[in-house]
Amino acid sequence: MAGEERAVSMDQVVSLAKRRGFVYGSNEIYGGLSGFWDYGPLGVELKQNIKRAWWRAMVQMRDNVVGLDSSIIAPPAVFAASGHLQNFNDPLVECEKCKRRFRDDDVESDVCPSCGGHLSPPRQFNTMFQTHVGPVADDASVAYLRPETAQGTFVNYRNVLQTTPHKVPFGIAQIGKSFRNEITTGNFIFRCREFEQMELEFFVKPGTDDEWFDYWRKERFRWWTQDMGIRAENVRIRDHEKSELSHYSKQTSDIEYAYPFGTKELEGIADRTDFDLKAHIAGSGADLDYFDEESRERFVPYVIEPAAGLERSFLVVLLDAYAEEQTGTKPGDRRTVLKLGPRLAPYKVAVFPLMANRPALVEKARSVYDALRPYFTVAWDDIGNVGKRYRRQDEIGTPWAITVDFETLENNTVTVRDRDSMEQDRHDVDSLLHLFLERLGPL
Ligand code: GAP
Repeated sequence: MAGEERAVSMDQVVSLAKRRGFVYGSNEIYGGLSGFWDYGPLGVELKQNIKRAWWRAMVQMRDNVVGLDSSIIAPPAVFAASGHLQNFNDPLVECEKCKRRFRDDDVESDVCPSCGGHLSPPRQFNTMFQTHVGPVADDASVAYLRPETAQGTFVNYRNVLQTTPHKVPFGIAQIGKSFRNEITTGNFIFRCREFEQMELEFFVKPGTDDEWFDYWRKERFRWWTQDMGIRAENVRIRDHEKSELSHYSKQTSDIEYAYPFGTKELEGIADRTDFDLKAHIAGSGADLDYFDEESRERFVPYVIEPAAGLERSFLVVLLDAYAEEQTGTKPGDRRTVLKLGPRLAPYKVAVFPLMANRPALVEKARSVYDALRPYFTVAWDDIGNVGKRYRRQDEIGTPWAITVDFETLENNTVTVRDRDSMEQDRHDVDSLLHLFLERLGPL
């Protein structure tokens, strides 16, 4: 794959993300907590924009998909039925000398990668986080933080069927936090212990699952490369070997991205068969059969599940958009630019008064800023010279910058500078809202 040797490094993107307030280490003032991250002012905007793009494509634009937001904590019975208590394990090895622990599949020999000590034989480690519900911490109050949003969807499958007009095939989409006590974390936000998932459970008639699996596999690749604008040469689909399949899956394909640290999973599409619904029928005694009025048949639907991680999506969006460019002939004429699609950009437009110490310019710029803000996110910047302000906005991916200058006071026009071409045009102030709404399209 051409993207295998990427020009962009993790250091460049991590440094930008920290420097500009996209991502902070969590609890840093107390030394941090490994595998947890906090999202700063620009990070929350980017996260929301990714979620909105997913929701638009998976729910808003589909006749047969609805949304759900189920609770994060669930009782053991749910995860006993789903198989997570028995099977959601990673093989763990421990160094007999330094006591460090690793995932067995992350180490290449039986010698500790950290100190060279001898590693123990692998044992199974369940990666679900346990907690207690209520004031007494005993066996009866044990509960778990969900390791995937999917189980919350399966336990609500009947509620949704009964409260909406939908018939199989139909889907339930959910975006929310999931938790896994990963043995090792790393590569920035690639593998965390707290993360968000964007998952669709799509219920189909048994026997039509191969067809739907193929549909979603292609559709999700299309979404990444077309709607999200991720360069196709950096994305591929990889079908799982039988030995890799999760305990619930008949077939799985991963959408993989060429990260600087290797080509790895971004999203998984699984054919979960009727495994989960049947497991919950057995576990709860609830009637989760489906009666098809047309064919007069009764069956337990199969489930096709496209499941993407928000943190990995965030990382992929940043990596794919990151560029450093020469902007002139002098060695210092360089810029860092995030070539984000306008819908994903944290700020759509920036507004600058040419000089911060001229009240007439500031007042006019402020009126432009106030007129646009109700419609989309707008940044205000009046610090330093305009060239520096352009560089600052380029670095966070703002597609357009408006400068209010002395000519504005004479003829009510401003310059609009394009992030990618760096070209500037003059536009009438009264045409700006229409201009940007047209360029942005529906948000
Ligand atoms: N419900 C199916 C499921 O959870 P998965 O492949 O284990 O399948 C789906 O997870 C997606 O969630 C992955 O493709 C990845 O993007 C994200 N993900 C899983 N574990 C993660 C972790 N520890 N940190 C960040 N993202 C993770």
